[in-house]
Amino acid sequence: MQTVHTLAELRTALRDLPDRALVPTMGNLHAGHLALVARARELRVPVVASIFVNRLQFAPHEDFDRYPRTLQRDAQLLAEAGCDLLFAPLEAAMYPQPQTFRVRPDPALADILDGASRPGHFEGVATVVMKLFQMVQPAHAVFGKKDYQQLLVIRRMVEQFALPIAIIGLDTVRDTDGLALSSRNGYLTPEQRARAPQLQAALRQLAEQLRAITTPAGLHAHEAQAMQALAAQGWAPDYLTIRRRSDLSAPSTGDVQSHAPLVVLGAARLGGTRLIDNLEA
Ligand code: PAF
Repeated sequence: MQTVHTLAELRTALRDLPDRALVPTMGNLHAGHLALVARARELRVPVVASIFVNRLQFAPHEDFDRYPRTLQRDAQLLAEAGCDLLFAPLEAAMYPQPQTFRVRPDPALADILDGASRPGHFEGVATVVMKLFQMVQPAHAVFGKKDYQQLLVIRRMVEQFALPIAIIGLDTVRDTDGLALSSRNGYLTPEQRARAPQLQAALRQLAEQLRAITTPAGLHAHEAQAMQALAAQGWAPDYLTIRRRSDLSAPSTGDVQSHAPLVVLGAARLGGTRLIDNLEA
């Protein structure tokens, strides 16, 4: 596997990699990322992974500076996973000028849930992903469903800008106790790590109750109860909510009664660490 850090090196390397698939990451790779690479390899095309910790998607008080950077180990894992090219741009290669032109996603999709808690986050994501797409020009790109809202933002961006890229969403990879794999799990103390599956358990419980709920008011009552129960376990819940899979809007009575495709999403803080997860219901 070749590793390149500049746009010129990338363009040269891409000449030999037609119809490529891109797996964009921020590094500190775990089995969830490697599953994205394995899914990309199933397409039988060259696989390009990118590693770039994108400052545009972090608010000033967030963990940009302490986000784990483990490039050597990541490159080793990607090579073993059968990745063909690693693009790990230097900050100056990605942002040679201040990035004053941005991709501003639809606020109805990007300013709710995680976007409400992290203003500007999805603008930062959409901007860097658009830039990675322009630089790598992939025919396919693979993203994890753990970042469910991110996947929807990217799908909508690709549709609305008519980008010739097939977006593939892959199911979340979980540890044996149900915790969704995430680079941020590394911030947890052993005691917090042991309690971390409580978030997934709360989402699962909400998804199970869903079948018995017949009205949006019923949904809200169960969401509120689930938040209280998680708070009682020592978490600071941001949201636990049931939404339509297609656009993350709140389900109507018709959606609830016709069993429209829904997703249960949650974000909550355990100590200083904010974790997110979701389950399609
Ligand atoms: O999901 C991530 O790791 C990041 O948000 C992404 C898509 C690589 C953009 O920085």
